[in-house]
Amino acid sequence: MKKRETFSNRSAAIMAMAGSAIGLGNIWRFPYMVGENGGAAYIILYLCATVFLSLPIFLAESILGRRTQLGTYGAMQTLAPGTGWRNMGFLTLSSALIILSFYSVVGGWSCDYFLQSLALGFSHDRIEDIPLMFSRLASHPWQPIVCHTVFLLLTALIVAFGVKKGIERFSTITLPLLFILILIIIAYSLSLPGSFKGVTYLIKPDFSKMGPSTVVAAMGQSFFSLSLGVGTILTYSSHIDKKEHLLGSGLGTALADILFAILAGFAIMPAVFSAGIEPGSGPGLIFETLPYIFAQIGEHTPVLSAIIAILFFLAIVVAALTSSISLLETGVSYLVEEKGIRRWTAVLILFALTWVVGCLCSLSFGPLQDVHLFGCTIFDFCDKLTANFMMTLGGFLFTFFVGWKMSKADVRDELTSGGEDRLAVRCFGVLYFLIRYIAPLVIITIFITNLVL
Ligand code: PFF
Repeated sequence: MKKRETFSNRSAAIMAMAGSAIGLGNIWRFPYMVGENGGAAYIILYLCATVFLSLPIFLAESILGRRTQLGTYGAMQTLAPGTGWRNMGFLTLSSALIILSFYSVVGGWSCDYFLQSLALGFSHDRIEDIPLMFSRLASHPWQPIVCHTVFLLLTALIVAFGVKKGIERFSTITLPLLFILILIIIAYSLSLPGSFKGVTYLIKPDFSKMGPSTVVAAMGQSFFSLSLGVGTILTYSSHIDKKEHLLGSGLGTALADILFAILAGFAIMPAVFSAGIEPGSGPGLIFETLPYIFAQIGEHTPVLSAIIAILFFLAIVVAALTSSISLLETGVSYLVEEKGIRRWTAVLILFALTWVVGCLCSLSFGPLQDVHLFGCTIFDFCDKLTANFMMTLGGFLFTFFVGWKMSKADVRDELTSGGEDRLAVRCFGVLYFLIRYIAPLVIITIFITNLVL
């Protein structure tokens, strides 16, 4: 049997997993959520959600992947042969493909904006055009589809080269680049007049804004941001060498993800406040508000603002790509393991599938905007279905399996790397308790809340 490819070392594994975690979720949602939900108070809540909920799920996925050295289907088939657990493979394949489909549409818009920034599309003399640019692009019958195709092709190309030559190489080059880009943007953003209000918006703790819905929102955001419940962390962990420490990789990834989200806040909000604009979240923040700000600032410093616009959209494209490759890899590992299909063929099949669903998502901003599923457009339906239901279900099943179906000795053996990882040995009792009781209970609570809402 061919030996499974492994990441070169722990930092390569962390970079790939952090690449999956750091994405649009960090850039277009986190900064806004922080400001809206009580600043530093929300950040503390988010940290708690990460430690008590997301980290245990992360570790559960890592244990399953590294123990079996297989993707979701293979892992379940190995640990619970001949049972319904192997259907987890199909659940995670579907979630990954649906997320990838709409994620790629947004990745496509980002590519378009990157090219526009290169063509100086956000210069001051075009300022009147800018507020309409996004709706024109999104509702256009074919332009966003071309962009979605380009983004998906880039994703497929990286994944086709395999774990080491494709995913690892791309992530280890681009992740440090992402941090450098965001630091440059922060320096610029903080130098703008009146930017301090943006800093206050992010850090002023306001405990009065905290309530049950804030708690659920923080948990949901942390869950999505760490790419949990889709099998991507499981799949990446299956390529981690047996002697590496899983807890260290989990902590490293969570730390990088949180740090990047906070940095993104300090890159974006000071600029937004300096321009005297109300911050929003989602596509509006990135594709309407920020280009407008670039144009506004460009009146006095055209060259600098053009450079910052280019760097900013480059950062978004790169962050989106490091996440999208993890989604595609999850599906590819399923086809390779269950169906014995060759990697390049698997990539091609999944490319075709996600391309079609992505086109439908894209068209739901234009020609298909009147098509509704359960009261949502196709894009929103895919987003809500995965974020509110499929990911939480996946996360629940992973922790349930590790907490209740695997033997405690096996879990300990894997999590502590056979007793070699001192920190994991010391924390095992707490971590096991979180995996077995707390995480599944909390996920059920989120699931029911989402259902009711
Ligand atoms: N974590 C990514 C983000 O914050 O944008 C999104 C994501 C990637 C979710 C991979 C799920 C996933 F499996």
